[in-house]
Amino acid sequence: MSRLSKQEFITKTPEETFELGQKIGAELPLNSLITLYGDLGAGKTTFIKGLVSGAAGLPPHEVSSPTFNYLNIYSGKQTLYHFDLYRLKNGEEFFLMGFDEYFSMPGICCIEWPETIAAKLPPCVSIHFNYSGENERSIVISGASL
Ligand SMILES: Nc1ncnc2c1ncn2[C@@H]1O[C@H](COP(=O)(O)OP(=O)(O)OP(=O)(O)O)[C@@H](O)[C@H]1O
Ligand SMILES: [Mg+2]
Repeated sequence: MSRLSKQEFITKTPEETFELGQKIGAELPLNSLITLYGDLGAGKTTFIKGLVSGAAGLPPHEVSSPTFNYLNIYSGKQTLYHFDLYRLKNGEEFFLMGFDEYFSMPGICCIEWPETIAAKLPPCVSIHFNYSGENERSIVISGASL
């Protein structure tokens, strides 16, 4: 994993996406910043559930999409900061609210719907989720610390 700057995975079930997240989560360096791109239902949260399991060692039922907050925090073996910025209209607010302070805390930050702040983020791992069939997803992982 570590020398590749870009890699595509195909998953055929939600479980496979979860397991991919789990595998990547177990290998991630501490303090990774990960952006997740893709349409509604593309699999971002499913992947993050796997990440939480792989990196924090927590069971999936403790993970839910932060629909009414911008941030959920899962504390286990490692701490995972799970942002969902779908409802954030103005990216400036993210920084005004001081959310970027989480980037320097010990733990892994994952950001769903990062588009409004992407240009202002430090180098990070990007994951793009695309539908390639009803239950099939193309998941392309690229970036800084891979
Ligand atoms: N291969 C697959 N990988 C992931 N999810 C799949 C796959 N096939 C079908 N699905 C279904 O697609 C949906 C993915 O939902 P998920 O919440 O992970 O998407 P999301 O990208 O986080 O969406 P949102 O932008 O609304 O937060 C689930 O209902 C899941 O069962
Ligand atoms: Mg989601």
